Amino acid sequence: MRDKRKEIIRDLLGDFAEEEDTEEDVSTREEDREVKRKPKKVISDSDDDAFKLDKIIKSPSKKKTKKIKKVSDVMKAEIIEEGLVPNYNVTIPSFSSQERQLFNEIREKLVEVAVTQDDFKVDEESFIGEVKQFLRARGVRDVDRLSAQISQEMLGYGKLDHMIKDDDLEEVMVIGTGSKVFVYHRKIGMMVTNVVFEDEAEIKAIIDVIARQVNRRIDQQTPILDARLKDGSRVNATIPPVSADGPTLTIRKFKKDPLTVIDLINYKTISSHLAGFLWVCTDGLGVKPCNAIIAGGTGSGKTTTMNTIAAFVPPRERIITIEDTLELQLPHSHVVRMETRPPNIEGKGELTMDTLVKNSLRQRPDRVIVGEVRGGEAITLFTALNTGHSGMGTLHSNTARETITRLVNQPMNVPNIMIPALDFIIMQQRMYRPEGGSLRRITEVAEVVGMEEGNVQLNRVFEWNNVTDKVEYVGIASQTLRDISELRGIGITEIEEEIEKRRLILEYMADNNIRSINEVGESINNYYRDPEGMLEQIL
Ligand SMILES: Nc1ncnc2c1ncn2[C@@H]1O[C@H](COP(=O)(O)OP(=O)(O)OP(=O)(O)O)[C@@H](O)[C@H]1O
Ligand SMILES: [Mg+2]
Repeated sequence: MRDKRKEIIRDLLGDFAEEEDTEEDVSTREEDREVKRKPKKVISDSDDDAFKLDKIIKSPSKKKTKKIKKVSDVMKAEIIEEGLVPNYNVTIPSFSSQERQLFNEIREKLVEVAVTQDDFKVDEESFIGEVKQFLRARGVRDVDRLSAQISQEMLGYGKLDHMIKDDDLEEVMVIGTGSKVFVYHRKIGMMVTNVVFEDEAEIKAIIDVIARQVNRRIDQQTPILDARLKDGSRVNATIPPVSADGPTLTIRKFKKDPLTVIDLINYKTISSHLAGFLWVCTDGLGVKPCNAIIAGGTGSGKTTTMNTIAAFVPPRERIITIEDTLELQLPHSHVVRMETRPPNIEGKGELTMDTLVKNSLRQRPDRVIVGEVRGGEAITLFTALNTGHSGMGTLHSNTARETITRLVNQPMNVPNIMIPALDFIIMQQRMYRPEGGSLRRITEVAEVVGMEEGNVQLNRVFEWNNVTDKVEYVGIASQTLRDISELRGIGITEIEEEIEKRRLILEYMADNNIRSINEVGESINNYYRDPEGMLEQIL
């Protein structure tokens, strides 16, 4: 019985319960703190105090880390890691009455210019320059701070401006009026801010600014808005009656310095072995470039993983990307980027994913990369894959099998017979750590190996082991490697050696912090150009 309880408790607590309490400073470089595991302690019956719950379950951490972070000249955020939801407090600068007067004068001048021009757009840098000149002429001393503050208030996103400019945040979430705004911090996880919108109009004003920037409108007839900020961040906004507690905003921050395969190896999202394997399969050694779907839950990192794998596409290829919101950032020079467009105010001019995928096939693509497959474009994509094109896409689902089920049912309706054109389903998951933050792991790589009695057959080649926290090779011979071997006329061992070589290159890059998108792109190209030379260099 006691053993059984131990087992149940271990099951319930899982491996997370044994993690060390990492009291890392939030300024460390890693996005997701790695799981540091203590060696498993064997609890023996002879041990006097072998089974004491309070020894296993840690009391809630009483840590209180205070950190002031400077986001810009006028913005500061105070991070307090205490309680269940840590705080992210922003200082919202206020104007003195004299400064307010100057602000109003500048605003009036700007409005005058705006009404006399049809297509009025402000360039932030030159605006700040003009404001500085104006302030100097008025004898203001603290010109830098005040000009930044004025620009932020006039051209920025009001109370959200601080958060939108902080690259450490993954998401900014306004849930309505009278409630605090939440943010998702890359290292700390969900945090609550001190910013509250008391008035619907205040949130609506920010949403209107965003809508205007993309020439769209949000109103009673169309109370949902999907848009992109100037910095590339993805926005979803809703207004009542859709959202009951007032207007909402969900902003997925665009990462200026995108994650690369080396970051993913460092964070343990992918192993260097799997990365080497996917590199060989993406390139297909020139004979079989593979097609893949990266699937997982919301925010599990599907797009990021697809972006990092797409970086392996050889530089001689022509890549066409199709997205609802431009998120992909590839190191290649030959990329045609397409973005869908919703209907305009009169309900016209819509460009759907499907239209763009169809159109891409008339553009002589070598690779078609679809941001998110979810509707009619799935059939078009699979038709392309079945007629010799190569492609990739992401899809929302929880398991490899469910990915197939979703593909062959409404609203995607891909005929069963077309599915084997797909080589891989890469499953990714996001797991929440009890002490905050999250881990992202590729949990499975399944190969589509064909059809049997009308059913799609899957072969799992890599699997995440939650004890070792590694994505491990299952050891079942990969059909894809067999196909490459046959088409290329070389043995499987030779292909495995090639995977190993590429793994070494990736590990060398990880060890030497060669990680930015351009550095990674360059190293991949160098390897394609002169594999032996590059290996010699690193060994
Ligand atoms: N492996 C990773 N490690 C750490 N952070 C990651 C990782 N992958 C993605 N992220 C971060 O997580 C956020 C969400 O990632 P991404 O957009 O790739 O997810 P997604 O699954 O495509 O989301 P959605 O379902 O909304 O399309 C981004 O801010 C990204 O920078
Ligand atoms: Mg995505």
